[in-house]
Amino acid sequence: MTDGASPLDPSARLVQGATSESAGESTGGRAGIRAGHGARHVAIIMDGNGRWAKKHHLPRAVGHRRGVEAVRRLVRAARGMGLDCLTLYAFSSENWKRPEDEVSDLMGLLRHFIKSDLQEFVDNGVRLKIIGDYKALEPDIVAMLENALEQTKAGPTTVAVALNYGSQREIARAAAKAAASGEVTAESISANLDTADLPPLDLLIRTSGEVRLSNFLLWQAAYAEMYFTDVLWPDFTPAHLEQALASFAARERRFGGR
Ligand code: FPP
Repeated sequence: MTDGASPLDPSARLVQGATSESAGESTGGRAGIRAGHGARHVAIIMDGNGRWAKKHHLPRAVGHRRGVEAVRRLVRAARGMGLDCLTLYAFSSENWKRPEDEVSDLMGLLRHFIKSDLQEFVDNGVRLKIIGDYKALEPDIVAMLENALEQTKAGPTTVAVALNYGSQREIARAAAKAAASGEVTAESISANLDTADLPPLDLLIRTSGEVRLSNFLLWQAAYAEMYFTDVLWPDFTPAHLEQALASFAARERRFGGR
């Protein structure tokens, strides 16, 4: 593990705005970032568990396990960074194509995560939200998730986990619902997305050096800032998130205006 690694990731690539140097300078003052980055909603495509495992000559399952530890670290840190919502891509609707034993490992990790971390969510005021068609998961997982949703519903900070999620399907579902209840507009589609109750997406991060959206939050990312880093997901720490937030803080967002 490289948890003790420098928070500065020289390989981080910014699609627009600040240089990685200016983002790096800003990471010196944690309080400043917390007070001033301005982001409410950050989403992460957590990629690179398999490559992390390969790099360390370990089975893929260990990479996923370390990936869950990275999730736990970030959930603990999110509130202290002033975020209202952290959305994590844990299992896509395309991930069913993976070998059965890997899908089963991921579902086992999800079960274990809910069991071991639910009380911490409750104690720390973290509301769990699920986006995606989670009802298609194993019935025991659906029951555990629904119990967790109920127990955490009052939390002021949201951690939204994407499970069996595909953005194109989500948009199609939302458009169909919008059509059934009136006019199809950008607003009526947005109001029927799984994310309707979340703040607008500010920053979308992808780890592991891949530079694509992979059917994640396509609609919601319309005006989000993008941040790509070569850090493999199991190595991603709250310090890396602070670096991404510093980069976000340095960008000029125009939402199509000038
Ligand atoms: C990508 O790594 C990661 C995933 C497909 C799953 C992400 C899941 C976790 C971090 C753990 C489960 C989360 C919770 C909340 C229990 P990859 O396997 O595609 O890596 P690779 O591209 O290097 O092979």
